[in-house]
Amino acid sequence: MTQTVAAAMAALEAHRVEIGQHRIADLFSGDPDRFARLQVKLDDLLFDYSKHGVTDATLAHLMTLARAAGIEAQRERLFAGELVNNTEKRPALHMALRNFSQAAMRADGEAVDGLVSAERARLFAFAASLRDGVIRGSSGHAFTDVVNIGIGGSDLGPAMAARALSPFGKPGLRMHFVANVDGADLADALAGLDLARTFFIVCSKTFTTQETMANARAARALVAAALGEAAVADHFAAVSTRNDLVAAFGVRPERTFCMWDWVGGRYSIWSSIGLSLAIFIGPEHFEAFLRGAHDIDQHFKDAPLQDNIPVLMGLLGVWHRNVWGRQSHAVIPYDQRLARFPAYLQQLDMESNGKSVTRDGEETLFETAPVIWGEPGSNGQHAFFQMLHQGTDVIPVDFLVAAEPTAADAGQHALLVANCLAQSEALMRGRSLDQARDMLLAQGLDAKAAAALAPHKTFPGDRPSSTFLYRALTPRQLGRLIALYEHKVFVQSVIWSINPFDQWGVELGKELCSRLAPLVSDRAAPLDGLDGSTAGLIAWRRSLGG
Ligand code: F6P
Repeated sequence: MTQTVAAAMAALEAHRVEIGQHRIADLFSGDPDRFARLQVKLDDLLFDYSKHGVTDATLAHLMTLARAAGIEAQRERLFAGELVNNTEKRPALHMALRNFSQAAMRADGEAVDGLVSAERARLFAFAASLRDGVIRGSSGHAFTDVVNIGIGGSDLGPAMAARALSPFGKPGLRMHFVANVDGADLADALAGLDLARTFFIVCSKTFTTQETMANARAARALVAAALGEAAVADHFAAVSTRNDLVAAFGVRPERTFCMWDWVGGRYSIWSSIGLSLAIFIGPEHFEAFLRGAHDIDQHFKDAPLQDNIPVLMGLLGVWHRNVWGRQSHAVIPYDQRLARFPAYLQQLDMESNGKSVTRDGEETLFETAPVIWGEPGSNGQHAFFQMLHQGTDVIPVDFLVAAEPTAADAGQHALLVANCLAQSEALMRGRSLDQARDMLLAQGLDAKAAAALAPHKTFPGDRPSSTFLYRALTPRQLGRLIALYEHKVFVQSVIWSINPFDQWGVELGKELCSRLAPLVSDRAAPLDGLDGSTAGLIAWRRSLGG
């Protein structure tokens, strides 16, 4: 298979030389149907990929690559619950957490739908009782504040989604997310909160993650000091695969929610890790969120490759990364409430595909995950867009925007949409040196001044982007967006022949931290055996009194 993939990639490179002559804007002028052809619609969601430098021939080459890599067979293995996470010998079956179809799902042969729906029913009952004030704190007060303690996938999903779906949240219920081992994170989250009205959820698949456990212990100590040791059981819930460790921490079994080892951390928002979100938006909206993702699972499974949004997203990414050598990819939601979406995608994409060995342990033939980054528009326009428009690197962009505001001024929303469309148009069109000079002359500059300023006012253009335009950012829509990116990451992992479901790259730093922590806290500990820089930095900190 590797040889056929390499051949398909070589064909794409040869094709790049041909197509390199065509500017994206020119591809539109000769082809009035381009927009209609280079898009996919899933009811209100439109995925426009016409502003990429691709032709029908490019797409045909990309489809050949997808088939050579065995996308269809690998997708089948994924949905069949096979051990696609080969280094940890686990399936990756987050789709089972949102399976509303008749088709049963099995993780390595074991039926899981019953387990999933039973746990979801427990979760929903608990979430509803807490948000309705039936479940109360140790002093009899209803909860006004919920603090989620977790990190990585046990934080980013709920934190991102709670912000995105704030118009659907229960009024008066405040959500807080604490992740960083920096004690400032917990301190700032708790500032001004009444612990008698505050509920904590400790989310950790392993229940051993250093940052989460440090924050959980600190929060527990504060609750015990303020309300008494017996209050801990009333003010904490936990989500983990390790019920034994959760029980030892002091969480009641009926407030302990499970997940399974076939749910990866960065794919866990659909599981009980979503408890804080379920409390905030309520079970009905949470179910709509799951159903949105399920719609995309069906689309990814059933749509022909050429009409399959995650397949197209993945292949366009490969076109930019491997054929054009583009090293980063920006995601710019024109939606302030999606402010944490790029950070969420950073973990999803870079923890999954930031690898340099194949599933078989060989060095990868191709460059893998680009740097994923972004901030909401229009803010970004007044910060890094300068570089997107005139920098020396070409950075493909995903624009996301809703046709309607969920809870905001409609007039301002029209301005937001116009900004989004203007940016993708400007990136594509650019402005030539001649156009810049003519514009300056028309503005009254003399020929010399116009010639001097024109290079600075020139935009190379021909910069690619995709646009996702949908009716509104509802729970269902957010579920759809996340699932699209999950499957895009999977598609790319198949092309690159890597396992997207492990994350060994986070281990070394953790190990070294365990070794350094005692040396940092004990001022007298000898620093022998450390490299010069690390020893020197610890010594300098000691000299500063730290
Ligand atoms: O260190 C990386 C990681 O394992 C992520 O994959 C995961 O989402 C995060 O840590 C948190 O892990 P846990 O849920 O076990 O605390």
